[in-house]
Amino acid sequence: MSFIVAIDGPAGSGKGTITKLAGKKLNLVNIDTGAMYRCASLYMIRNNIKLDETEKIAEMLKNIKIKQNKIDDIDRFFLNGEDVSSLIREKEVNEIVSQVSHIVIVRERMVELQREMGKKSNIIMEGRDIGTNVFPNADVKIYLDATAEERANRRMKQNEEKGIKMSYEEILENIKFRDNNDKTSPVAPLKQADDAIYVDSTNMTIEEVVDKIVEIVKSKGKGE
Ligand code: DC
Repeated sequence: MSFIVAIDGPAGSGKGTITKLAGKKLNLVNIDTGAMYRCASLYMIRNNIKLDETEKIAEMLKNIKIKQNKIDDIDRFFLNGEDVSSLIREKEVNEIVSQVSHIVIVRERMVELQREMGKKSNIIMEGRDIGTNVFPNADVKIYLDATAEERANRRMKQNEEKGIKMSYEEILENIKFRDNNDKTSPVAPLKQADDAIYVDSTNMTIEEVVDKIVEIVKSKGKGE
């Protein structure tokens, strides 16, 4: 049986960074499930498949292969063999990925793939529904949170580094909008699993959060 750590939480809570670092320390394969929905979205854009074209989407799900591989210690994402790591972070994908992730057959297929990954290795998987839906029996469940204001501050800093100009108010509004969308989604809404440990990272550094998660996981029986 594999050892499974589920990390869920809202956009901007730092799940991606924390999962990568904690996975390394704990010798667990880290999996970014948001990137899988992003790959499906990119495929739909490229093949001009609309959100309501169920037959085409079903066909797509038979044909796409999504892989996450480490190259020089950096996670890369492959869509049918092509490295799409940068493309899946672009604006066009951002604009539709939430809607794509709400398509029931897309979700079913992604969850199936995620469960297969959990059979092959010991994993730390991040997303929105990992502890509630993908692995309801995960060995460790963590719900990683931070206030919307703090998440907006973090996003503001990232944007400045990338040269993206957006006001704090605009970013905050966007985060609140996404939170509401994620939490009220009719399909797998974001919510803390009853048995998940709540970690509020608002006043913590990345290192502190990683240490906290490593400590929690070790206390549940996963050593090095
Ligand atoms: O974490 P992210 O921004 O890369 O996620 C992209 C989208 O996919 C986001 O709208 C939430 C959705 N998602 C989801 O519904 N379920 C997951 N397990 C992971 C992501």
